[in-house]
Amino acid sequence: MGICDRLFQLKDRVAIVTGSSSGLGVTFAKGLAEAGAHVVLAARRKERLDAIALEIEAMGSKVLAVECDITREEDVERLVAVTLRKFDRLDVLVNNAGMTHVVAAENESREMFQQVLDVNVSGAFACARICGKVMLKAGSGSIINIASIMGVVGIGLVPQAAYNASKGAVVNLTRELAAQWARRGVRVNAIAPGWFPSEMTDELFENEEGHKFIRKRTPMGRAGLPEELLGPMLLLASDASSYMTGQIIIVDGGWTIV
Ligand SMILES: NC(=O)c1ccc[n+]([C@@H]2O[C@H](COP(=O)([O-])OP(=O)(O)OC[C@H]3O[C@@H](n4cnc5c(N)ncnc54)[C@H](OP(=O)(O)O)[C@@H]3O)[C@@H](O)[C@H]2O)c1
Repeated sequence: MGICDRLFQLKDRVAIVTGSSSGLGVTFAKGLAEAGAHVVLAARRKERLDAIALEIEAMGSKVLAVECDITREEDVERLVAVTLRKFDRLDVLVNNAGMTHVVAAENESREMFQQVLDVNVSGAFACARICGKVMLKAGSGSIINIASIMGVVGIGLVPQAAYNASKGAVVNLTRELAAQWARRGVRVNAIAPGWFPSEMTDELFENEEGHKFIRKRTPMGRAGLPEELLGPMLLLASDASSYMTGQIIIVDGGWTIV
């Protein structure tokens, strides 16, 4: 096998994808499986995970579906324990589970704000920490946090203060974890997507005004296709990015360049 064949090789690597019951997480899980990885699906809606697991199994990969609320540390501990029991290794964490409330800041209660931070920041940190421990022990691993363009710019017209604060936190959490673990074989990077269809963005995509807004504001004149996140995902998950850590890859059709 030549070096270029080896670069993106994920054969028999084991990847946990959180938030893989809908949206981008499904695309990430299927993409990693197609690249040869065994995949562990994690989210709260177990029946959805089971259906997606069947599809992935049919692709020839080994798969595990685990009900997990990332705001509950005991759930995350169990997720990692059952992963190790089945596969005896953990190579990749896609820290993808996330949520938002679209609400004007002046009406966003402390409880709403806190809920978003609990999932997007504390939940993601718990996953990184608990998976990170296993990876540090093994001396290798790749953590890919799913941030957002809303972690590097504001927007106003789709008001979501907690979400933007949380994704800003994910961006710098990525850098700090990367710096702490760089000498111990564990890389931590992030993908910051622009606008992509999913349950989270349903409302925006369902009305023509929303579409128009995205087309007008995006230099490429369109939203992204979920598959367009797979290139960066496979780069960061595989040895192709062996000298990259702490990086934020923005995939947004140019949204943040203007
Ligand atoms: N779509 C976009 O345009 C876009 C842009 C930038 C960034 N992102 C980010 O991409 C990630 C995926 O979002 P999406 O757009 O694919 O939205 P989505 O379809 O709503 O997916 C969110 C996923 O997170 C899971 N989740 C939510 N709370 C959870 C919890 N407490 N514990 C475990 N899982 C939980 C949900 O599953 P359950 O409800 O079954 O638990 C679901 O699978 C998020 O981090 C989001 O911020 C999306």
